Amino acid sequence: DAGETPAADLLGFSAVAISTADEIVVPEGYSYQVIIPWGTPILGSFPSFSVNNTGDDQAEQIGSHHDGMHFYPINDSSEDGLLVLNHEYVEPRLMHASAQGVSLSSGATPPLVGGLRPADEVRKEMNAHGVSVVRIVKGADNQWSVQPDSMNRRITALTPMEIHGPVRGSDFVKTLYSPNGTMTRGTLNNCGNGYTPWGTYMAAEENWAGYFTNKGDNPREHSRYGVPSGTGRWAWELADNGADEYIRFDASIKAADATGDYRNEPVCFGWMVEIDPFDPSSNPKKRTSMGRFGHEGVVFAPAEEGKPVVCYSGDDSRFEYIYKFVTAANYNAATANGSMLDEGILYVAKFNDDGTGEWMPLVYGENGLTDANGFTSQADVLVNTRLAADFMGATPMDRPEWGAVDPANGDVYFTLTNNTRRNDSNLNEANPRAANNHGHIIRWKEDGEQAATTFTWDIFLFAGDAGESGVESNKGSDPNGNDLTAENILSSPDGLWIDPDSRVWIQMDSGWDDPFGNCAMLVADPTTGDLKRFLVGPIDQEITGITMTPDQKTLFINVQHPGEGTSGAQFAAGSYSSSWPDYTPSTRPPRSATVVVWKNDGGVVGS
Ligand code: FEO
Ligand code: CA
Ligand code: CA
Ligand code: CA
Repeated sequence: DAGETPAADLLGFSAVAISTADEIVVPEGYSYQVIIPWGTPILGSFPSFSVNNTGDDQAEQIGSHHDGMHFYPINDSSEDGLLVLNHEYVEPRLMHASAQGVSLSSGATPPLVGGLRPADEVRKEMNAHGVSVVRIVKGADNQWSVQPDSMNRRITALTPMEIHGPVRGSDFVKTLYSPNGTMTRGTLNNCGNGYTPWGTYMAAEENWAGYFTNKGDNPREHSRYGVPSGTGRWAWELADNGADEYIRFDASIKAADATGDYRNEPVCFGWMVEIDPFDPSSNPKKRTSMGRFGHEGVVFAPAEEGKPVVCYSGDDSRFEYIYKFVTAANYNAATANGSMLDEGILYVAKFNDDGTGEWMPLVYGENGLTDANGFTSQADVLVNTRLAADFMGATPMDRPEWGAVDPANGDVYFTLTNNTRRNDSNLNEANPRAANNHGHIIRWKEDGEQAATTFTWDIFLFAGDAGESGVESNKGSDPNGNDLTAENILSSPDGLWIDPDSRVWIQMDSGWDDPFGNCAMLVADPTTGDLKRFLVGPIDQEITGITMTPDQKTLFINVQHPGEGTSGAQFAAGSYSSSWPDYTPSTRPPRSATVVVWKNDGGVVGS
């Protein structure tokens, strides 16, 4: 057998232990740096971070609750590029002087003043949402820094956006702001992201429904998505200046009320949003052909010349579905652009118990998606994607989060983060655990071409406790079916990415402490089935968002909402469960931030 050398170990690092410390833990031989925490100035007058920043200051700073992310090299450099990242939501109790010293239960509405919200607090919260585009450069000692640059940009809940695809111009999205239904304002709750074959950035709109209220008749395009009848998530509709851009979040206000007409505002959300980071003057574009739901993110399969472009998106809510979009046009690298996403077929997944599956098209006029069954146009099918998928008999999943495609073989992986409401009456083979506290990862292979309408699937791993100590139903197993161990127990897989060498990076968003410790990131080798913990984050956060430089020698991940578990009494006292990353809680509360990780010997991260 001379000449044959064993394949190098894909996971060449030593697993890190579980940690409950308020810090980042990386493997031996690795280092890290924290960059761009919430409030870092990147634009305009570069206002320094302070809890007293105004709404307009926030529009020139990095937003909060960092999530999906992509590194765009400049001139193919691995030391200079645009980092583009989502800001999923905010924590008002950390953001305003007025909220400090006030005891609020977790998730409570920020303090109302005379039954209303100070308008600038609303503005600040809106401007802390959305997407940041920031140029970063590597200097001496692997230290990255923000560069003032004309491409630096903030996209927020107030940024003008275009509506494209079949819903554009339909009655569903005609608003006071855009009477012809071609524009809207802002993007909300941007969780995961996507990277298109033509190099643009996709931001997903996930839990947008709760930002609205509808106290009156709740049409199906509101009710099926959970638009509440009580106060909106942060009561933006109660802004004390009555400005249209804030009070539009009350979707029960109609023309007959003589105060406006905001009933269609919620229909302008729930889409995938395409952004060209290299054109700061371009409007972001909502691509309605890809459906309206709680988009966690989107992952594109590697594009093949002369073939349709294929991408996948999960709807992260209990018992919701996984979708696939296939473009009508074939890919041509020289001419491809986002308009390809305006025409194509949206499919929803059915996972049969025998390990086969099918993609069911959501096309008006076909398979019963007809006027007789209440669907009046393709725009209607897309606005009411969840209802169309219900009608088709799609498989209800355990909260589909991120997807990833293995570049080596086109296999698709999706995290199913958990579902405590799964029970013996609604199990299926693809979601086989009752009270699924810890989640699993499903995998499928398309039958032939990536655009195929049938596939075969298996379960890649079950998250959970170790074999020795766990309650039977909470035990996890690795890709080989072996019990998990101290070096790889995990709960609630969420972020997911497969690097160019086919390492499967798995990020935790778990509310559990013992025995899992703080949320961590693990890596799997899909061939050998090895699974190791690579990084652990600080207290009460999730690890989410992942990207690398082209040389794979620099890894970026996000730490979202450190200190999220702070109690109402702790908030009132200004003492948080985490003080990461500044450790100066009296002046700087815990802040979401990006973490840069590299191997001290200059090698590929993970190798
Ligand atoms: Fe925003 Fe489903 O995580
Ligand atoms: Ca997530
Ligand atoms: Ca999650
Ligand atoms: Ca989150």
